[in-house]
Amino acid sequence: MTDLDTRAQVHDLVVGFYREIAFDELLAPVFTETAEVDWSLHIPKLIDYWCRVLLGHPGYEGAILGAHREVHELEAFRPELFDRWYDLWAQSVDRGWEGPLAERAKAHAARMSATLARRLIDSPWEPPACPAAAAASGATTVLGGDLAAGAGTSR
Ligand code: HEM
Repeated sequence: MTDLDTRAQVHDLVVGFYREIAFDELLAPVFTETAEVDWSLHIPKLIDYWCRVLLGHPGYEGAILGAHREVHELEAFRPELFDRWYDLWAQSVDRGWEGPLAERAKAHAARMSATLARRLIDSPWEPPACPAAAAASGATTVLGGDLAAGAGTSR
């Protein structure tokens, strides 16, 4: 398996991930009904976002917290949405990629989920170690890896 070291790899990850989201009974309504997301705009934006996080490419200039706050005001986020979002993301990464950037993609997503959960719903969200361990023990692991990459939480 390769690492997420080119825009083409990031593209494939993001497209695959949103394909999962679009068919997920918990998350799909948030995107399609609450936020009424235009996928043709959202997916390229998210490719830019992850290229900035992982590869340092310029391009994403959004306001991530503000974007989620607008969605939250339409319909409140819940901890299980973060659980599912992270679970699908980690599975998507692990299905196709391995290496330092793949680990960073998961660590960054965990950190951003925790930040969004804290800021939007005042909830101390933490990622599970892996879906199997979470199912067995009730999700108690702390995240590791790169906590420094911060694409836009402060805006
Ligand atoms: C419960 C988990 C999450 C849900 C339900 C969710 C949902 C959404 C929705 C509905 C939008 C579209 C907003 C709009 O255009 O109107 C959005 C945008 C976005 N999300 Fe999430 N999200 C979640 C977690 C995350 C996480 C953990 C990250 C990053 C690691 C992330 C990154 C982004 C980015 C970069 C945008 C684009 C913001 C912009 O417009 O600049 N999301 N999200």
